[in-house]
Amino acid sequence: MNILFLTSEIHPLIKTGGLADVSRSLPLALHALGHGVRILLPGYVGVQAQLTDIHCILEDFPYGLLPAPARLLEATLPDTALTLWILDCPKLFEREGGPYQDEKGKDWPDNPARFGAFCAAGAWLAQQAGARLNWAPALVHCNDWQTALTPALMKFWACPVPSVLTIHNLAFQGNFPAHWCSSLHLPSSEFHMESLEFHGQLSFLKAGIVHANQITTVSPRYAREIQTPQMGCGMDGLLRRRASDLSGILNGIDELWNPETDIFLPFHYTARKLQGKARLKKHLQKKMGLPVLPDVLLIGMVCRLTWQKGIDLVLDTLEDWLTEEVQVVVLGSGDPETERQLAHWSSRAPERVRVVLGFNEVRSHEIIAGSDLFLMPSRFEPCGLAQMYAMTYGTLPLAHATGGLADTILPCRVQGHSVEGTGFLFENPVPREFHETLGQAVACFHQKDVWKQLMHHAMARDFRWNKAALEYQTLYQTLLSAP
Ligand code: ADP
Ligand code: GLC
Repeated sequence: MNILFLTSEIHPLIKTGGLADVSRSLPLALHALGHGVRILLPGYVGVQAQLTDIHCILEDFPYGLLPAPARLLEATLPDTALTLWILDCPKLFEREGGPYQDEKGKDWPDNPARFGAFCAAGAWLAQQAGARLNWAPALVHCNDWQTALTPALMKFWACPVPSVLTIHNLAFQGNFPAHWCSSLHLPSSEFHMESLEFHGQLSFLKAGIVHANQITTVSPRYAREIQTPQMGCGMDGLLRRRASDLSGILNGIDELWNPETDIFLPFHYTARKLQGKARLKKHLQKKMGLPVLPDVLLIGMVCRLTWQKGIDLVLDTLEDWLTEEVQVVVLGSGDPETERQLAHWSSRAPERVRVVLGFNEVRSHEIIAGSDLFLMPSRFEPCGLAQMYAMTYGTLPLAHATGGLADTILPCRVQGHSVEGTGFLFENPVPREFHETLGQAVACFHQKDVWKQLMHHAMARDFRWNKAALEYQTLYQTLLSAP
């Protein structure tokens, strides 16, 4: 089956979060099942330079679809056999800064034009790639708001190809002032509550939820949560109406995240031979300028520094639990005030707290592998990949029991000699519960035997993509066989 996969980020070319990892590893798993995949990505600055075999396959998009000049380039995703289609449109994508924001962290004001055009190119390719490029997609798979106008456009243009929309995060909706509806040449007759309009605005994500043939999200629990008023970000009613076409498929993790082979790490290990992990802990402590103490609990955290990730629960309680024999290493970037508070802690208690601000792939692997405990107190978490990476590396996650965190982490239970679980969970994202659960983790850490058993349970979990890829395959097949 030929699948056109639309995404706004992909590892290792451009990444702000887990979407980039999924956009590499899900297509890889589908390719391994024998499917033909083309991944459509915006041609951000710097992307072309990372590709060796890049060449133009199309330069005559219909007049008005994209600001000229615009071309479609083809290349292979590094270290894979996956074919990428890059939408090269310099006016929209060739600028310094991030994929969605400028260097100061402000959203690009023309994001609706940028991703509106990207969606239009996706819909046009769904219809025309067969005739123009000799590769006809059987279905289009969209991801998040940046691609979510595509299913709507396909419908408006009577494209017979079915579409799937995966919601990786309902909180990002791509809502823009109403005038964008005409600026993007969308039919004004569709600007109403049952289609493109959301509280007086044009909503990319809503357009996708309304018009995609199937909707998925990245864990079964999040699929249920987003149908509730508490977690539906205003779209729960619509999601409930589409409940029979909505399912949750738990993400897998990429084979790049493997403690036996990780190319970013100087030492390797398995559940049976854990010496490498102890050496990585030492390596991390040294690199971060912390005292090298094997018996002190080393706590790691790697995330976008946003409200979603619950970093404030950590900051609000840090003073209380830093009295314990622990060390803390945080890698992240985002909210300036959170960055400031973290930097403050790192200068106030340099023997205990170390902070790296910014995005650093190598350091993320070092922290996830070298720590003992990994914090993910997210308020909500559609899936979360980092906790799965952590478990695979024998680093026990401590998390809020929500979304994909609750679906992947088995809470620690110790009764006599019986030790169950792969991490630590708390029910409500409030400082007291976070602090208590951290206390439980510290106590377990000091029972070497218990901790080791938990590590073994965590490392025995299989988070590879095979299962999820089969679930997507079944979903695609059902969609294609639908009358
Ligand atoms: P989200 O997509 O919501 O940010 P996930 O847990 O699904 O959360 O994925 C986050 C991904 O981004 C992981 O691969 C994590 O290691 C990575 N990541 C987050 N922040 C950083 C950072 N500052 N430097 C390097 N990698 C990061
Ligand atoms: C989003 C979510 C995260 C998920 C990732 C990949 O960024 O916040 O929970 O793991 O997408 O699906």
